[in-house]
Amino acid sequence: MRVLSGIQPTGRLHWGNYFGAIRQYIDLQSEDQAYYFIANLHALTTVRDADQLRAFTMDAALDLLALGLDPSQATLFAQSDVPEVSELTWILLSGAPLGLLERCHAYKDKKEKGLPADAGLFTYPVLMAADILAYDSDVVPVGEDQVQHIEVCRDLARSFNHHFGEVFVLPKAQVLEKTAKVVGLDGEKMSKSYDNTIELFEPAKAARKKVMRITTDSRPMEDPKDPETDHLFQLFSLFGEPAAVKEMAELYRRGGFGYGHVKKALADAAEAYFEEPRARREELVAHPERVREILGDGAAAARKTAGAVLRRAQEACGLRSR
Ligand code: ADP
Ligand code: TRP
Repeated sequence: MRVLSGIQPTGRLHWGNYFGAIRQYIDLQSEDQAYYFIANLHALTTVRDADQLRAFTMDAALDLLALGLDPSQATLFAQSDVPEVSELTWILLSGAPLGLLERCHAYKDKKEKGLPADAGLFTYPVLMAADILAYDSDVVPVGEDQVQHIEVCRDLARSFNHHFGEVFVLPKAQVLEKTAKVVGLDGEKMSKSYDNTIELFEPAKAARKKVMRITTDSRPMEDPKDPETDHLFQLFSLFGEPAAVKEMAELYRRGGFGYGHVKKALADAAEAYFEEPRARREELVAHPERVREILGDGAAAARKTAGAVLRRAQEACGLRSR
C-alpha cells in the first residue's frame, strides 16, 4: 500500500494539523511506502513573500521530523522539487470541467465572501490531484476538509483512464473520525484563518496562556455537565492518558469543578506530550544542513516515482511515443 499526503507551509503548524493529519502520517509511515511533502506550490497562492515561504517550508520540515517522521521509513520532500508534478498538472487541467472546480470550497468560499481569488486557487485541486496521482497513491490521510479534493482527484483520474486507458491508481481519503475536526480556542474548527490556534512548538508558557483563554460557558460550578459536548474536554481527550480522560469525564458528569482545573490539566498534558518533540526540534534547528539533505534525498526518490507515472500518462495521451 502506498500512502501520501502533503501539508501547506502557510504558517506555523497547530494542534489541528497534528491530530487531524500529521499524527496519521507518522502512524502510517511503516506501511509499505509513504510519501509526505511540503506543499509549497500550493502555498504560493497565499504566501507572497519569498523569505517567508522559505522559512515556513523549513519550519514544516523541522516540525514533521521533530514529531517523529522518520526519513529512513518515509520519503519527505518539498513539492516544488518534483517538477514532474507540475507537468502532470497541465495534463489534468486539460479536461478538468470548470463546474467541478467552481464547486470546490477553497475557491467558492473566497468568491462568496467577495474576496479576490487567483487562477492558482481556482485550479488548486488539480495540482493536488497531480500530487496524489504522480505517486500511484492508494491512501491519503487528511483532515475532513480535504475529502472533497480527493473526490475531485478520483473524478479526474477516472475520466483520464476512461479516455486514454488505465494509467492512474484511484486513491482513497483516510480520515480519523475522532480527530477529523479539532476545535480551537473559540470552539470553532482550529484554523490559522480563524486566529484560534495553538501552535505545536510555541513556547510552553505562551501555549499555556492560550489554553487559559479557551472559551467556556458560564454554568455554575456545581452543575453536572456533559463532557461529550464540551470543547475543552474534547481538547483534553486528545492529550490525556485514557485513564485520566475517563476520570475527567466522570468529574464533568458529577459537577462541582471549575473550568480552570480542566484548563490546567490540559496545559500540563499538552506540555508533557510535546516535550520530546520539542527537544528533538531544537537539536534539528542547530543542523539545518541535515534537514536539507533529508529533503534532497527525498526529492530524488520522489522524482523517480513521479517520472515513471508522468511517462505513462504522456504515452497514453500522445505526448510521447510509446
Ligand atoms: P489551516 O486550516 O490552519 O489553514 P490547513 O488547511 O493547512 O490548516 O490543513 C493542513 C492539514 O491539517 C489538512 O490535512 C487538514 O485537513 C488538517 N487540519 C487542519 N485543521 C484541522 C482541524 N482543526 N482539525 C483536524 N484537521 C485539521
Ligand atoms: N491541500 C492540502 C491542504 O491544504 C495540502 C495538499 C496539497 C495535499 N497536495 C496534497 C494533501 C496531496 C494531501 C494530498 O491541507
